[in-house]
Amino acid sequence: MASLMSSLKRSLTRLLILLPVLVGLSISSPAQAGQWDAETRTVPSNPGGNSVTFSDQEITSGRKIFNNTCGTCHAGGITKTNYNVGLDPEALSLATPPRNNVDALVDYMKDPTSYDGEFSIADVHPSTSNSDLYVQMRDLDDEDLRLIAGYILVAPKIQGVQWGGGKIYFGT
Ligand code: HEC
Repeated sequence: MASLMSSLKRSLTRLLILLPVLVGLSISSPAQAGQWDAETRTVPSNPGGNSVTFSDQEITSGRKIFNNTCGTCHAGGITKTNYNVGLDPEALSLATPPRNNVDALVDYMKDPTSYDGEFSIADVHPSTSNSDLYVQMRDLDDEDLRLIAGYILVAPKIQGVQWGGGKIYFGT
């Protein structure tokens, strides 16, 4: 009887050690599907104040295309060679014209301009109009550009200051 008790106790102890691990696993892994609510996926679509709600699927695709196409310079929403012109909502909203909406971002990917909007930077920034120079832009259609823009605008709502955190960590 005593040995039965002690072996019971031992298996109970094992279970108690395992339990948090199992619970931890079930909380952290299947968070992929349906992870963002509609409010998070809703962003300005144009300067006129209209908005658009992307689907989870669209945001996931947008993130993938963004990481593949823009990630070398803009991973995490910063701009590696110019921390002042990040992809955070503040930097985008203070550009001329403001770039914190889908249409303006799509426009930028077709014909990028300087931060003050004064001149074209299509010779130095990837765009669909210079895909001979930047081959990664060659296979992107309008829908891809729209998904990238959606991701850029939704990402700070998901990641907070970590998106484009350069402003905080690197100063101006
Ligand atoms: C080779 C590096 C590089 C790649 C690749 C790149 N960018 Fe940029 N991006 C920059 C630089 C540098 C700037 C700052 C330009 C300036 O001085 O105005 C910038 C600026 C921007 C801005 C303006 C940000 C603001 O606050 O006004 C947007 C939007 C942008 N990039 C989007 C993209 C997107 C979308 C892609 C992928 C399709 C991309 N970039 C790929 C280097 C890059």
